[in-house]
Amino acid sequence: MKYRVQIWRQAGPTAKGRLVEYEIDGVTAEMSFLEMLDVLNERLQLEGDDPVAFDHDCREGICGACGVMIDGVAHGPGKATTTCQLHMRQFDPAEPIVVEPWRAAPFPVVRDLVVDRTALDRVIEAGGYISTRAGAAPDAHALPVPKPDADTAFEAAACIGCGACVAACPNGSSMLFTAAKATHLGVLPQGQPERYTRARDMVETQDDLGFGGCTLAGECTAVCPKGIPLSTISRLNHDVLSAAMRAG
Ligand code: SF4
Ligand code: FES
Repeated sequence: MKYRVQIWRQAGPTAKGRLVEYEIDGVTAEMSFLEMLDVLNERLQLEGDDPVAFDHDCREGICGACGVMIDGVAHGPGKATTTCQLHMRQFDPAEPIVVEPWRAAPFPVVRDLVVDRTALDRVIEAGGYISTRAGAAPDAHALPVPKPDADTAFEAAACIGCGACVAACPNGSSMLFTAAKATHLGVLPQGQPERYTRARDMVETQDDLGFGGCTLAGECTAVCPKGIPLSTISRLNHDVLSAAMRAG
């Protein structure tokens, strides 16, 4: 099959970017979206042109590296998934496809479709850890955890840090990401000592980094490839308020 794909090309962080249209032949329905970009890049390199820069690593939905906007939707239209798990059979060859980088102030474009997502690492550094000495694995198993809490922690820990929630949010908020990272620690016994300061510090840091405020628009959870629910944000808001009350 042949597709018409308009791709954001930008030579560097301060360069002016633009959409460039390519006709990409030899694409099969079974190919992933990234494999379609591979086909294009092989051709561009043979022709002596710069290949399209895009982030990727695992190509199996677990590393969170591959996010791009496809036809205005984070990770592409249809069922929420990662870009590497998206297949070309979902696209109509008669319709052009538009591919852009994540658009959010804290995610500056590095080149083409690659953005700098280290702002999410800064949020983790502000509190996404536990200082408790939890011992070795057998010691951790000796501490009973109620099943509902274990399930909530497991669900939140599925976040892969892709940033789709930020890209989809009309406010550019990272609340779903931050809430997932705070929740998977905050509901476990080992995470209790720092539960409230963790929530406060992570939210303050995301605000300082330029992420927008959350207005519970819900666009984040609609595109989240790991199905992190909005209730995770409510839990984080509760812990941030509790931190303020404890301090006051
Ligand atoms: S909450 Fe979902 S969309 Fe946001 S970074 Fe985590 S996995 Fe990606
Ligand atoms: S390349 Fe790892 S999630 Fe897509």
